[in-house]
Amino acid sequence: MSMCLLKGFLLISLICAVFGQDTAKCDCTDWYGRCRNMGETWADDNTWMYACDDKRGAPATFAGCLVLANNELVMPGKNISINGFWYSCDVSNLRIKYDQEPRCLVNGSHYHVGEEFREGYFQWLCLETGRWVTGCYYQNETKDWNLLKIGEKGYNGLIQHVCDRYKENPGRIQYIASIRKDIPHKSPTNKGKNQNLLEFVDNRLKEEPVLWTHDNVVLFIESKDKFNQKIRYLPASRGW
Ligand SMILES: *[C@@H]1O[C@H](CO)[C@@H](O)[C@H](O)[C@H]1NC(C)=O
Ligand SMILES: *[C@@H]1O[C@H](CO)[C@@H](O)[C@H](O)[C@H]1NC(C)=O
Ligand SMILES: *[C@@H]1O[C@H](CO)[C@@H](O)[C@H](O)[C@H]1NC(C)=O
Repeated sequence: MSMCLLKGFLLISLICAVFGQDTAKCDCTDWYGRCRNMGETWADDNTWMYACDDKRGAPATFAGCLVLANNELVMPGKNISINGFWYSCDVSNLRIKYDQEPRCLVNGSHYHVGEEFREGYFQWLCLETGRWVTGCYYQNETKDWNLLKIGEKGYNGLIQHVCDRYKENPGRIQYIASIRKDIPHKSPTNKGKNQNLLEFVDNRLKEEPVLWTHDNVVLFIESKDKFNQKIRYLPASRGW
């Protein structure tokens, strides 16, 4: 009996101690309800920037959305441009929302949706969901790069350049340089150098063929959902 009373007393003391400490020490509360000290700043989820600038135990001030890649802060309610891409930080009483312009990030370069760009032998079109290969580049006799659309052929002397779908896997595009079969020719048996043949060998050794696969597109869809928009719901959205 007295043991029960003692336990109850201890529990109440403990609760009093915790709450007493809270009201005495909490300058601000963060989104999770934890205490923060005056002067503290922090970014939740690497995005939501807060500052504790009061001592009355109120929720911390939302300072804006952090663009981690550039270490820049988008102020609440603003939509700014950094290096030609927009970043938005929208605030309502129910939620805060971060959006950034969808893009294709390839080999360290950022491309806008709708932009065409070259990587290796291939031309790509950037879409919101990923990127599509739209053609292949080949070098002609004068060393100028020319674009082949998918299904087209180009010629450089005895060399035929083809940009086409794989027959076994139409989801893949291939670029092939090969010796023309429709023109009779001699293999260079003498010491005289065949410029075209050398270039063909060169082409094949320089780079691995770049292939488009379904996997790449799936990867982009995933990163778009995770990366281009973030939403944090606020206590008001809980309905009490
Ligand atoms: C931000 O601004 C750009 C143009 O300046 C606009 O295209 C884009 O839709 C805006 N983003 C949001 C989330 O409002
Ligand atoms: C990737 O970028 C580097 C540096 O800008 C460039 O030298 C290289 O050719 C690029 N690779 C491809 C496949 O475009
Ligand atoms: C090579 O391509 C360039 C650019 O398209 C073109 O101006 C030139 O005439 C071409 N050269 C030959 C020999 O076809």
